[in-house]
Amino acid sequence: MPQVCASLADTVAVVTGGAGGIGAAICRGLADEGASVVVGYHRSPAPAEALAAALGGRGRHCAVSAPVTDSAALARMARTVADTYGRCDVLVNCAGTTRFVPHHDLDALDDTLIDDILSTNVRGPFAAVRALRPLLAQGAGALVVNISSIAATTGMGSNVMYCASKAALDSLTKSLARALAPGIRVLSIAPGLVDTPFIAGLDPAWRDEQLARSPLGRLAHPADIAAAVVAACATLTFSTGTVIAVDGGRPLV
Ligand SMILES: NC(=O)c1ccc[n+]([C@@H]2O[C@H](COP(=O)([O-])OP(=O)(O)OC[C@H]3O[C@@H](n4cnc5c(N)ncnc54)[C@H](OP(=O)(O)O)[C@@H]3O)[C@@H](O)[C@H]2O)c1
Repeated sequence: MPQVCASLADTVAVVTGGAGGIGAAICRGLADEGASVVVGYHRSPAPAEALAAALGGRGRHCAVSAPVTDSAALARMARTVADTYGRCDVLVNCAGTTRFVPHHDLDALDDTLIDDILSTNVRGPFAAVRALRPLLAQGAGALVVNISSIAATTGMGSNVMYCASKAALDSLTKSLARALAPGIRVLSIAPGLVDTPFIAGLDPAWRDEQLARSPLGRLAHPADIAAAVVAACATLTFSTGTVIAVDGGRPLV
């Protein structure tokens, strides 16, 4: 009989970008379901350590440096996870970067920004999977969740290269799902606009327009994305290599 609902008790989950707006909600969601959560951070340990200390559930949580553009640092992160927990059941690739550049302004999308977006949003998730693969492969039924975006399919988003980076991430999801099956499932979760500090600085008129065009009448909350990650771990146990939209139906309008 297939396992239709897996418990997260006694599992270990690593979340890159774990102290960010969406990442923190995912950490909370996984911790509340019983996982031990490794909050991966980039520049500043303090918010990640504070979050790890505040997480609920019955797991043992910690914060670990996980700069996704530094493969040597990711290898150290994987060794820390192995030494601390001896296992890794879930990797959530949530780290991501962007900057708003109007799509018509090709000169403003400079090479430095392009390289930063691609190395963080595409090479980074791949490098994190590569570093944690031995641990993920040890268990029975591990999961990688790549936090993508509906920008991957709509081509609308903070800039042209950000959209392309999320399309590339969805392609990685498919290739890796095939390559790592049956032991490791790989899914993309694609949010629409999520109400985080990341979008707080946007033109309010543009934000209101996005809201008006959302059939479900609101922007996503980080908790909506966390709920989808928990469902991917615990409920959607026969899904791999696919993209799950969590967008309030925004592309319909
Ligand atoms: N907010 C939205 O509307 C939305 C919609 C669709 C998809 N997403 C995706 O959701 C994910 C999280 O976004 P968010 O809204 O929560 O943004 P956020 O609050 O800015 O979080 C991004 C996180 O990624 C980390 N990060 C950036 N570069 C990194 C690197 N090189 N190595 C490791 N970590 C790095 C950041 O850490 P530092 O601050 O230390 O750099 C931060 O913790 C991203 O992948 C984003 O593309 C967001």
